[in-house]
Amino acid sequence: MSAAAGVDRSRLERLLAAEQRRFEELHPGSLAHHRAAADHLILGVPMPWMLAWDGACPLYVERGEGARLTDVDGNEYVDLCLGDTGAMTGHSPPATVAAVAERAAIGMTFMLPTEDTAVVSRELGRRFGLPRWQYTLSATDANRHALRYARLLTGRPRILIFDRCYHGTVSECFATLRDGKVVAREGSVGAAVDPAQTTRVVPFNDVEALRAELAHGDVACVLTEPAMTNTGVVLPEPDFHRELRAATREAGAFLIIDETHTLSAGPAGMTGREGLEPDMLVVGKAVAGGVPAAALGVSEDIAGRIDDAIEPGRAGMAGVGGTLAANALSLAAMRATLEEVLTEAAFARTDALGARCEAGIAAVIGEHSLPWHVVRIGGRVEYHFTEQPLRHGAEGAAAVDSDLSGFLHLFALNRGVMVFPFHNRCLVSPAHTDADVDRHSEIFAAAIDALLA
Ligand SMILES: Cc1ncc(COP(=O)(O)O)c(C=O)c1O
Repeated sequence: MSAAAGVDRSRLERLLAAEQRRFEELHPGSLAHHRAAADHLILGVPMPWMLAWDGACPLYVERGEGARLTDVDGNEYVDLCLGDTGAMTGHSPPATVAAVAERAAIGMTFMLPTEDTAVVSRELGRRFGLPRWQYTLSATDANRHALRYARLLTGRPRILIFDRCYHGTVSECFATLRDGKVVAREGSVGAAVDPAQTTRVVPFNDVEALRAELAHGDVACVLTEPAMTNTGVVLPEPDFHRELRAATREAGAFLIIDETHTLSAGPAGMTGREGLEPDMLVVGKAVAGGVPAAALGVSEDIAGRIDDAIEPGRAGMAGVGGTLAANALSLAAMRATLEEVLTEAAFARTDALGARCEAGIAAVIGEHSLPWHVVRIGGRVEYHFTEQPLRHGAEGAAAVDSDLSGFLHLFALNRGVMVFPFHNRCLVSPAHTDADVDRHSEIFAAAIDALLA
């Protein structure tokens, strides 16, 4: 069944063009700002991903509050994108705002720790079961550091990733499989070396391929999300994590779990929910309520071996760390966010909202017998243009239908609901309400009605 199954392409083309025209009518201010800024920006946007939005330009934002975002034209949205999870807490949660304001008034960065450090590290350790932590400004950097430590401690050159993963702009991860060979991901630019020299790639959920690649004996670590989230959502098959853990232990390779997106599953992400046992773990994006911050946790054994391997006098040349990493503002924001915002109760709420959102989407798919399915990780809900759940990243990539997604995203945006631009995802925060989620379901139903009329 093709991704376009059940959809009349010429009708889709007409509807998409109409939504694009409507977008331009609704957003003269954003368009003007976009044009004014473009001459001063590389690629016309301050960050390349902003080119991925459907519509003639990225929206210029005036403010975000809780579940709402308002653009410069005064349009208000139910925000189900939440800055690609960076605002999973809802925009500007009051507890984080208060801690940030207090900290900002008395110094934001010192290249010295503050008392929040021990509190945050203890709390992360309690949640994720790893006792020792280090901080960065982004999950990308935390992953980069994890890979360095893994190579340091194993003396092995390569890493292993799952095909079509994303772990930030980490060079070793811009690799994919083509005809069984490791090649650069399409679109990747300026790589220092051929990724086949640094990276082994296997399909997610393929234990046999995983074992075969680990058998080369040159893999320092496997870096993976607990469920893949970046080429559609691919859930692990029932025994996959048990097999992955056993295979990495047998091969002497570290297991690094990247919880940056799957944190939506609960207070300790899928690691906590599923009882996973990584050697290292990365969290980022939402952990400081929108303030740049991420963290890398490691086992006591790994921390001890890093202590032994890195001379304190040369720590600045270890290739880890950064001037503003672990700054006082990030740590204050992380403390308040962990203690008061991303709580058990908040995750119980987002889980229930996520279930409601999933049911709303599933009802529309079911009503029209569309060959699509919907999948959920806590407050994160995503639908794919395939009848069956995805088993690995290549299936996710094959199911992409940019025009169809573009129409569905723009249709929602033009009616006051913002969804994630890269794929078909809704993310809820504790600030969302049943009515917000139902609004998405109604608009999704109306879009499908228009498409199938
Ligand atoms: C699973 C995962 N890890 C890491 C990252 C990198 O996060 P950041 O861009 O904040 O460094 C991303 C970004 O989308 C991600 O999806």
